[in-house]
Amino acid sequence: MAVDFWPYLTRGVGARCSQCIARLDPSQFSHVVPPAGPADAEVVFVGEAPGGQERDEPFQGNAGQELDNHYLPLAKLERSEVYITNVCKCRPPSNRTPNVSEINACAQHFLVRELDRLNPKLVVLMGGTASSIVDGNPVDLESDHGRHYRGTILGRGPYDIMPTYHPALGLHVSNRIDAIEEGFANVGRWLAGTYSEPVDEWAGDEEYIYLEQGVGRLWPRKPVFIDSESEYGELYSWQYTQLPGVGIMVKEHGDSGDHIKEKRRYLQRVLNECQSIVMQNAIVEVAAFRALGIHVDWAKVTDTMQIAYRRAMSQGLKPLARRHCGMSMQSYLEVTNQASKRKVKEWIVEVVDHLPPLVTNRVSEKTGKYLKPSRKENPMVAVLDGILRSMHTNPKYDPWKRWREHREELPTAATPAAIETKKKQWYWREWLLDHVGSDMPQRGLRHVEPTIAKWYACRDADATCRVYYTIGKDLDSLWKVREYDWNAR
Ligand code: URA
Repeated sequence: MAVDFWPYLTRGVGARCSQCIARLDPSQFSHVVPPAGPADAEVVFVGEAPGGQERDEPFQGNAGQELDNHYLPLAKLERSEVYITNVCKCRPPSNRTPNVSEINACAQHFLVRELDRLNPKLVVLMGGTASSIVDGNPVDLESDHGRHYRGTILGRGPYDIMPTYHPALGLHVSNRIDAIEEGFANVGRWLAGTYSEPVDEWAGDEEYIYLEQGVGRLWPRKPVFIDSESEYGELYSWQYTQLPGVGIMVKEHGDSGDHIKEKRRYLQRVLNECQSIVMQNAIVEVAAFRALGIHVDWAKVTDTMQIAYRRAMSQGLKPLARRHCGMSMQSYLEVTNQASKRKVKEWIVEVVDHLPPLVTNRVSEKTGKYLKPSRKENPMVAVLDGILRSMHTNPKYDPWKRWREHREELPTAATPAAIETKKKQWYWREWLLDHVGSDMPQRGLRHVEPTIAKWYACRDADATCRVYYTIGKDLDSLWKVREYDWNAR
């Protein structure tokens, strides 16, 4: 046993932990399950928290069976040679997932000491909770499962880390079994020195361009990879390519009617002339085009998301591009968030000026003369100020959510005075929207610097192209029946 400093170990199986600062009522939590494994283990496997079936070591129940019999052999490892532990050493009430403060309280106290002591060659983080303890950019398991990287864990390290899906996942979601297997096989490859990652062959050489007018060159016998961006219920742009490393963006937003007509004629021509059309999530794309009166012949359409589904791979474009082509991509949120928030701030500053103070004329009871009118700040100012302040203090604050909630909040749960204030705010909010003529700007590419928007949009078409040429081969051989599916009939 690698750990001899655990206060609860001295109290034996079934002991409860005295260390946890997050726990309010210890009797609500399960007993403590200590880690298991040799003190000189090279590989540490970290799970979430013990389940109902664990008594004296982690992973003794169904998830443990999967780990021991199915996944560890793929990593060419045996349980006796690895160290197995959990982020949280006991299970929160009702078998729920530990929350952030529980994870921090437990892991900061125990797991960091375990890692310090063992100084392992590789830390395998199994599942979302375990993967949440790395510092820096959060792990996205869809993209990152079975991918090696070097990083710190709760401020310690750096360690060599490999996140994988949790071994219990396959018990509930059988189409993730391949992905779990892939992660553990990569653990084995990394330990054997045979692990490698695809590289982005066009990194730095991408050609992403705006097509302002006219038409581009088309190769009718090559597939066309096409994608669109819609915002505020309108088509913002569409992008296409026929070559990896290339993306051509045709932007509609901000264009006049005639230009838009011309651009749509070109879109229809691209769709008609090319004998094969490849899209990511084609149902959504085709629906967006059809809503504009653009016809897409379904018989020519291939969907990279469906290919990924048939291959039991992660289906998002970002994980597909990252895992199979080495491409890094930004999400819509990452691209649009900051610029859109800047617009929100400008909007608030502008509209607050429109809000008149509430002025009440007062007359003296004694003399009947007018007194100085009382002036109160408009009640909407407090709401908008609050949003502005929260945006400054909390980078994760979502002004759109707050604004939506403000519309939906019912004036019932509070005191009568609070209800009155809420009603006034409602009135002034509608007044404001009428008078200013614009609502809070939504999140959108329209607020983003054009070169960044172009890169983001073109990259989707480029990624669809590269993913297709990487995972789209030999599709006919895909319908295989796995041996254990067959036996399970
Ligand atoms: N058992 C454990 O010990 N940890 C888990 O994460 C799940 C089951």
